[in-house]
Amino acid sequence: MRILGIETSCDETSIALINEQDGRFVVEKNLLSSQAKIHAQYGGVVPEVAAREHAVHAFPMLKEAGIPRDGKGIDAVAVTAGPGLVPALRIGVELGKTLAWAWNKPLVAVNHLEGHVYSVWLDKDKVPAFPSLCLLVSGGHTELILMKGHGQYELLGMTRDDAAGEAFDKVAKMLGLSYPGGPEISKHALEGDPEAIAFPRPMLESKDYDFSFAGLKTAVRVYLSEHPEHIVADVAASFQAAAVDTLVTKTLRAAVEHNPSSVILSGGVSANKQLRETLMQELQEEFPHITFYAPELKYTGDNAAMIALAGLMRAKKNEFVDPLTLVADPNLRLA
Ligand code: KG4
Ligand code: ZN
Repeated sequence: MRILGIETSCDETSIALINEQDGRFVVEKNLLSSQAKIHAQYGGVVPEVAAREHAVHAFPMLKEAGIPRDGKGIDAVAVTAGPGLVPALRIGVELGKTLAWAWNKPLVAVNHLEGHVYSVWLDKDKVPAFPSLCLLVSGGHTELILMKGHGQYELLGMTRDDAAGEAFDKVAKMLGLSYPGGPEISKHALEGDPEAIAFPRPMLESKDYDFSFAGLKTAVRVYLSEHPEHIVADVAASFQAAAVDTLVTKTLRAAVEHNPSSVILSGGVSANKQLRETLMQELQEEFPHITFYAPELKYTGDNAAMIALAGLMRAKKNEFVDPLTLVADPNLRLA
């Protein structure tokens, strides 16, 4: 089965083709056009601007990817239907609907978060065993999910306010660093002392698996106003240490309760080296029987390959939607 993937939920336009034969699949195309530079001027993603850019890039990218105009050789279309920014999502959703309808091919509505989970499987040698504990950290979401099987999710906890990536972006902005802030913070943190400032670890003591990053962000804001002579690298390193500590501690605690066979770290923030390494090391020390998985760096951020793969898994179960009626859902939930 060859499946076309379309992703436009935020500020990356992406088109991918995945082909599965005899249980093995190949990423034949994964084209990406990032708008990060455009949104950097505004300090964050502007939904209408994102939508306009998706509309500009989507068709040329289909052509560049060599997608035949009659859809020949393509068995299904998979598109991100949510969650995300409505104007941005709609460009991809309408494109997916149009192609599926015109080609008379089945359409799969993919949850963007499920795409991030499946980004790990894009490395063909990695096949996480179930149950899998998933820490999903992106610009819009921070969730701990128990994946019991393909397409089976139980939400264990989530952020009550800001997502982890959002906190990285906002702290970077306070420090005068550019958007997206995550990579900037981690770069500056390399030169700083993670113990220089004792930022709080919000909700670490609470028994649930929820997170809160707004309090940590506010603590950084207060520190900056009280210390105009601050060292950017130390603030970045200390903030990053607090964020990583919270994420890792809660994940390990969930591992004790749910005894998973594997742990999956995914989403844009999974590119963070400190987070990847700390989680891997602490899991190895405390739970050597649990296998740790994180996506290849090229698949940590938004991309259509992960959407095509998540779509492929659903297409195999004939979970299709009507191309005439699919509507983008900004609040689509995984569980
Ligand atoms: O998954 P993603 O590409 O888009 C959403 O679905 O939101 O995640 C984007 C987020 C941004 O907040 C960005 O700052 C963050 O991922 N990010 C990072 C790093 N690289 C990207 N956060 C921390 N450290 C990084 N190295
Ligand atoms: Zn994402």
